[in-house]
Amino acid sequence: MQVVLDYLKRNQARFVAELCEFLRFPSVSAQSQHKKDMIACADWLANHCRQIGLDAKVCPTAGHPIVVAKTWGRKAERGKRKAEKNSRPHFMVYGHYDVQPPEPLDLWKSPPFEPRLASRSLFARGTTDNKGQHFAHLKAVEAYLKTDTPLPCDLTFAIEGEEEVGSANLAKFLKSHRAELKCDAVVVSDTGMPDADHPALTYALRGIIAFEITLHGPSRDLHSGIFGGAVDNPAMALSQLLGKLRDQNGRVAIPGFYDDVAPLSTYERKEFKRLPTTDLELQKLLGVPKLFGERGFTTMEQRSARPTFEINGLTSGYQGTGSKTIVPAWARAKITCRLVPNQNPAHIRKIVCDHLRKICPLTVRLEIEAGHGAEAYLVSPKSPHAQAALRALRQAFNREPVLLREGGSIPIVNDFQKVLDADTLLLGLGLPEDNAHSPNEKFDLDCFENGQRMSALLWQELAAAV
Ligand code: BES
Ligand code: MN
Repeated sequence: MQVVLDYLKRNQARFVAELCEFLRFPSVSAQSQHKKDMIACADWLANHCRQIGLDAKVCPTAGHPIVVAKTWGRKAERGKRKAEKNSRPHFMVYGHYDVQPPEPLDLWKSPPFEPRLASRSLFARGTTDNKGQHFAHLKAVEAYLKTDTPLPCDLTFAIEGEEEVGSANLAKFLKSHRAELKCDAVVVSDTGMPDADHPALTYALRGIIAFEITLHGPSRDLHSGIFGGAVDNPAMALSQLLGKLRDQNGRVAIPGFYDDVAPLSTYERKEFKRLPTTDLELQKLLGVPKLFGERGFTTMEQRSARPTFEINGLTSGYQGTGSKTIVPAWARAKITCRLVPNQNPAHIRKIVCDHLRKICPLTVRLEIEAGHGAEAYLVSPKSPHAQAALRALRQAFNREPVLLREGGSIPIVNDFQKVLDADTLLLGLGLPEDNAHSPNEKFDLDCFENGQRMSALLWQELAAAV
């Protein structure tokens, strides 16, 4: 084992250079002009996996390709081994090579796809979310393979290109490759830790529903002096409509929205209080004049264990410089709701849409376009696998790990559970100040290095766990 850790230590500079190569691909899954970049990025990744000694393939899908890379060679090999009495454990590492759109570009201190190193921070779109994080696992496996250290288990990497747009094709892929991907647990580093001194096992994620609402008014933009006053303004109507969806206490004002929400246990509320981040620190980090949230819950609870209704984008009328006196023809909002355990995405989608239709005025026409959806995820932090992961975190970071519930979503983990019957261990390496989905995204090289060590130790711990 020491030889693996020594290998990691010796090769950090090269690992960072390789990660920079990976980061140079503008693999933005949401934007169709990057389709070729997605393929090039997947090819690069598969090639890299081969270089470190994995058996890798690029699997095309109806959308962006999935890279599958294995330590265990040909398909038949595992099948044969499985037939043996003491078959080796098999774990899957999941990650995503797609990234969020880099806009607004003018807020980046250096171009998003030209990685820049400043002391121990590596800046580029996709550093923390998620290229840097799953790359740490690849480097750990490289260390085993290149030092001829036997791995105590079989590993399969599944790195997809559609996580940031809902993972629609990976779910299908899991079903059609169930036998090959069947495993004892899935390991995902695509979440966060409260700060650099607190490695974390995340045992809950929020679910999500996405949709777009458009209010259509006049058949074209109108002169607001000639017609304004006698036709409804779709931008105003949308503002008022959306304004009705939040009450004085910061709660979502949609009947039934909270009906199924699983209450927090006393134990969980106590655990939340142990986390190191204070409200003032968060307020400063985020640059808000004051924090805001649902009354009756702490900031940490609001961020991870309570459902929300968020406007992600709001568009209407003239956006250019100067003024233009029009009544816009339409107004549109991109919305996501974060969901918590026991809320059913289809049901919440229905009650939200029904309510919008009910309160929409007759002066505009409401159009709703449904997007992706996923339920929340919750897994026991007490399982033998989770305990093994905590041991690996403790050794790698030389710090006591914390248990987290987090507010982000990784829709596919539900499918790992349903299709592969495998729990997911969420072992995130991201920091709150990493600017995921924001300009100047970065990854901390200490997290990168500790993450590699964690991964190296993890396979020993997991393989020994029941
Ligand atoms: N890595 C995030 C999810 C995340 C971040 C979980 C921080 C927990 C803590 C992931 O890449 C992501 O951004 N997911 C999307 C999913 C959506 C597009 C379906 C999200 O949460 O918005
Ligand atoms: Mn993301």
